[in-house]
Amino acid sequence: MKIDWITYILLCLVAISCRPQTSSQQIDGQTIYSKYCANCHDTGFQNAQVIGDKAGWQSRIAQGFEVLVSHSIDGYMGALGYMPPRGGHFGLSDREIRAAVQYIIQQSQ
Ligand code: HEC
Repeated sequence: MKIDWITYILLCLVAISCRPQTSSQQIDGQTIYSKYCANCHDTGFQNAQVIGDKAGWQSRIAQGFEVLVSHSIDGYMGALGYMPPRGGHFGLSDREIRAAVQYIIQQSQ
């Protein structure tokens, strides 16, 4: 069968977008953070808790990793302001959120 180039390109696109996310795939928390969380958490925009502010993060980290993750996934209203679900990026997977939260904690304790 003769495949013209448009079909060929479409097949390539399908192959790329459908490739399975293998569990061995490394998710880089820092990359996720810089892309999706830094716009608020680097500067305190919208009253976000600034990354690296150890005093500010102490009581948050004390809640435990799972609470921080669930607040990041579901969003929540805190004393400072509103943390939107997944930082407003609904395409982020739970694993990507977890990696970003892990990164924030590493930088803030
Ligand atoms: C639109 C701004 C904004 C973006 C984008 C954003 N956050 Fe937040 N985040 C906030 C604000 C505001 C708070 C503080 C809420 C409070 O406690 O008053 C917060 C708090 C948090 C907390 C602390 C939760 C707790 O229980 O104390 C975590 C963890 C967090 N964000 C993770 C993330 C991650 C991960 C991302 C990226 C995927 C992200 N945030 C993106 C605004 C943002």
